[in-house]
Amino acid sequence: MNLFLCGSWDDDERDAWAEALRRALGPGHRLLLQRGEVDEASIEVAIVANPPPGQLRGLTGLRLIQSLWAGVDRLLADATVPPEVPVARMVDPAMNAAMAETALWAVLSLHRGFFDCARQQRDGRWHQAPQRRADEVPVLVLGTGQMGRTAAARLAQQGYPVTAWGRTPSEPIGHGVRTVHGDAALAPALAAARTVVNLLPLTDATRGILDARLFSALPAGAAIVNLARGAHLVEADLLAALASGQIAHAVLDVFAVEPLPAGHPFWAHPHVTVLPHVAAQTDVRSAAEVVVRNVRALASGAPLAHRVDRARGY
Ligand code: NAP
Ligand code: GLV
Repeated sequence: MNLFLCGSWDDDERDAWAEALRRALGPGHRLLLQRGEVDEASIEVAIVANPPPGQLRGLTGLRLIQSLWAGVDRLLADATVPPEVPVARMVDPAMNAAMAETALWAVLSLHRGFFDCARQQRDGRWHQAPQRRADEVPVLVLGTGQMGRTAAARLAQQGYPVTAWGRTPSEPIGHGVRTVHGDAALAPALAAARTVVNLLPLTDATRGILDARLFSALPAGAAIVNLARGAHLVEADLLAALASGQIAHAVLDVFAVEPLPAGHPFWAHPHVTVLPHVAAQTDVRSAAEVVVRNVRALASGAPLAHRVDRARGY
């Protein structure tokens, strides 16, 4: 089978993926890094990492587009991606675990005031602020999918009272996690939260959800942790909410424009912590196995795992 690998990456990253995928695929498969190497109609699988638009145009033989990224919003927004070809996204427990670690680090650092301590250190200032217990810091996780569930469970294990909000009723997540769903459940969940962790997919319904309206539904001095997509956040609304004190601090891993442009107000904001989109990187070793399982499913006619509902957008 001919497979085509493409993405937005540097040569070293691409080569690491190519090596891991070739090893996992084994003989009988040809992984191409350039399209011109074979008759393009013979390429049956595209393995993609957030590719720039247009990379799959004209690949008429495609039977599967397998994303190495969990979020497929950019891929689905590419009008040149053939609409009839199934898209599968990356779902990997190693990635979910990494995301849960980042969520825990952010919530714990906010709750214990460690971002303030880092600022105090820069200023050479010694100040011991009073602290609360974890069970006094309710956390709202937006999204009850792969990442939301894992993060919610991890936070609850750490003693935080956790509510997880989804679109539809969710399977129970575990001890200490209350699940709610639907638009009507959001405002009361926000009113009861001190920290919001966003792990929603980017869709028409969720674009701009972290806006002035959502911030004003939180208790004053709440915190925002955005680990999902930059376009979930209305940046100007966050800056206004930080200025008024409605939001005390924001931890942001994702941005409308990445890399975050030099001079952007978030870089130097005393109450914004910037991460360079590293909340949950795809693990080459385990993810290559996920890809190969789907390639084998395609070859044998078995159902594909983690198919994206293209109408729903995730
Ligand atoms: P997922 O498994 O598809 O889960 C999506 C969840 O969001 C589901 O629970 C879904 O509810 C819920 N949802 C969708 N639309 C909703 C709406 N309108 N209102 C309320 N809930 C809604 O996604 P995932 O794999 O957990 O990924 C979560 C996010 O993390 C994505 O944005 C992804 O791009 C991002 N991500 C970021 C990084 C990083 O490094 N920063 C890494 C990987 C992924 P239902 O189940 O009821 O449909
Ligand atoms: C990273 O953001 C991903 O979607 O995998």
